[in-house]
Amino acid sequence: MENDMDYLKQSDAVKARFDKIKQREVILEVKGLDKVYKTAKGHTTALKNINFKVHRREFVCVIGPSGCGKSSLIRILAGLESYSGGEALLDNEPIDGPCRQRGMVFQGYTLFPWLTVRKNVMFGLEMNGATNEEAGREVDLWLELVGLEKFTQAYPHELSGGMKQRVAIARALVNQPRILLMDEPFGALDAQTRAKMQSHLLEIWRNIDITILFITHDLDEAIYLADRILVLKAHPGEVQEIIEVSVPRPRNPEQFNSPEFLATKARLEALIHPAEKTEHKDEPDVHIPSRMIRFVNVEDNVE
Ligand SMILES: Nc1ncnc2c1ncn2[C@@H]1O[C@H](COP(=O)(O)OP(=O)(O)OP(=O)(O)O)[C@@H](O)[C@H]1O
Ligand SMILES: [Mg+2]
Repeated sequence: MENDMDYLKQSDAVKARFDKIKQREVILEVKGLDKVYKTAKGHTTALKNINFKVHRREFVCVIGPSGCGKSSLIRILAGLESYSGGEALLDNEPIDGPCRQRGMVFQGYTLFPWLTVRKNVMFGLEMNGATNEEAGREVDLWLELVGLEKFTQAYPHELSGGMKQRVAIARALVNQPRILLMDEPFGALDAQTRAKMQSHLLEIWRNIDITILFITHDLDEAIYLADRILVLKAHPGEVQEIIEVSVPRPRNPEQFNSPEFLATKARLEALIHPAEKTEHKDEPDVHIPSRMIRFVNVEDNVE
């Protein structure tokens, strides 16, 4: 489709919104961050000189080809991984270990299978010293917010993928973190559930005081959700560009074909696709041993 729109062009309303965001306090600041993994085979520079700030109640997405250090970055910010240089500050305090100020939601389902939905969400609160009664009240509130009030007594295996991620979001939010760190949280969901979860997350974000850093592979998802998109490149993971998304808020799925949306997507494609061609250069080629091919043939040949 022809689209002459410049992805940098912002309407007055969008511009005013960004001006307002920039006046808000900085919640997260990353300065000259480096991460080098030392392995038996040598060194891998996963992140090199990463710099960015996230303001209060901002929604920032991080996008980039596989292996560009997205998970390393978010794990460092969660305090689950050390860093090799630079600084990572939450509310001006260096991040040096996990704490309740930073809530985390991963791609894989990380609920305790032996606990009910309610107990799963309650777990973190009780660990932080809340009484059973206090914790129960809080938990019920958050489960209602994520639309799971009818499933409080269910076990994780009784839930769909989308519902499990709703529990994971409630579990992260119940501690009232300053920032929610999400690493491809909808990556394992089917397209329809994923779209529903995106709108649901936007609705939650609009209604509570939370700042979100969200990692994704999906360009549409990043544009639909984010105020700004941090585009990383691989080998080593460096910031290519930080894009202010010019699509107005509140967002809705009809905007996927709007000129602003398409212009932003074209820019992301131009930034990401050249890098993707080289992304798997150190990965082994798939090689199917001939023995296995014969084995498959034998299995298929049932007559
Ligand atoms: N624990 C580790 N030890 C050694 N190297 C690692 C480790 N974790 C990640 N790496 C390397 O660091 C680089 C960045 O990995 P990371 O998992 O952060 O990328 P990613 O952008 O999240 O990738 P994906 O999109 O596939 O999830 C890769 O080259 C990876 O091989
Ligand atoms: Mg990852």
